[in-house]
Amino acid sequence: MKTNPLSRNVPIISIAPMMEWTDRHFRYFIRLITKHTLLYTEMITAKAILYGDTKKLLEFSEFELPVSLQLGGDNPIQLAQAAKIGEEFGYSEINLNLGCPSAKVKEGRFGACLMAHPELVAECISKMKATVNLPVTVKHRIGIDGLESYEHLWKFVNFVSQSGCERFIVHARVAILEGLSPEENRKIPPLRYKDVYKLKEDFPYLIIEINGGIKTLEEAQEHLLSVDGVMIGRAAYENPYLFAKADEIFFNDIKTSLSREEVLEAMIPYLENHQKNGGKLHHVMRHILGLYFAKPNGKKFRRLVTENMYKNPNPKEFILRLIQRMKEFQLK
Ligand SMILES: Cc1cc2nc3c(=O)[nH]c(=O)nc-3n(C[C@H](O)[C@H](O)[C@H](O)COP(=O)(O)O)c2cc1C
Repeated sequence: MKTNPLSRNVPIISIAPMMEWTDRHFRYFIRLITKHTLLYTEMITAKAILYGDTKKLLEFSEFELPVSLQLGGDNPIQLAQAAKIGEEFGYSEINLNLGCPSAKVKEGRFGACLMAHPELVAECISKMKATVNLPVTVKHRIGIDGLESYEHLWKFVNFVSQSGCERFIVHARVAILEGLSPEENRKIPPLRYKDVYKLKEDFPYLIIEINGGIKTLEEAQEHLLSVDGVMIGRAAYENPYLFAKADEIFFNDIKTSLSREEVLEAMIPYLENHQKNGGKLHHVMRHILGLYFAKPNGKKFRRLVTENMYKNPNPKEFILRLIQRMKEFQLK
């Protein structure tokens, strides 16, 4: 049984939406490690869903659920139509991206720059909520250039919540739209966790989730004393096995998690199917490189995988050989 992330008996623990990283292959892989953590797609623009290769963009395996579909856009009608399509594909929730600081996103007036337009955000949320029967959530920053104070954040959340949005995932950094790259915007603006805690104090009836710079489940537990949920991004991708204890710690599911080797073995049928359908092994295996993160032979594992994955080998032979080599390393 998968946990309904909206059941308020449990916190909302999630792995952040990350372009190029949290695609369906990564989500399948991480689902072998944690059953209950909420997963996100990469950001997909409403326009791409409406006018692009919808099936390719949205198709996923039920095994990945619960998954939130993250949309980018600033047109309420297009967003509502895209959300509806997402609902029909079986996504668990719809999330609107209000945190992405990239210039490409800014030109289209969506992402973080929308924080300057709460009335438009509210309209987008209202239209989506009226169109789908799924939770509609927003992911945003604590502010943007010129709108950096807690007071602005408070006004933004106050206004947007009146459109019926009940869940706010807050990256605890300001996004500097002029002068910093997206990568710098994830490192340079200081983390202001206290602003997110204060939001929860000021809006106790809203669900407030915190994001930014959280690296361990112990840190997540600390944050949960002040907010309803924790989203982890880079640390989850770099060190996916970090989540092996998540089901037990946060969701009281004490079934023993798979060992790293069992996770690898469980990937064999998925890889075989992917290859059979014309996919290449490296599309999937590139997401697995962190499986032995910080273990004595973690670097050897990365090397073994990267040296071989582009040759598109037979999945079963490749994985069984990897497991055997890792066992040999451990004996040495
Ligand atoms: C490679 C990469 C891609 C990202 N793509 C998205 C995205 O598509 N949508 C989004 O809302 N945030 C995106 N982010 C930001 C993350 O969701 C998250 O807010 C940020 O990394 C801070 O959390 P962390 O410190 O736990 O990584 C991305 C981050 C990274 C590293």
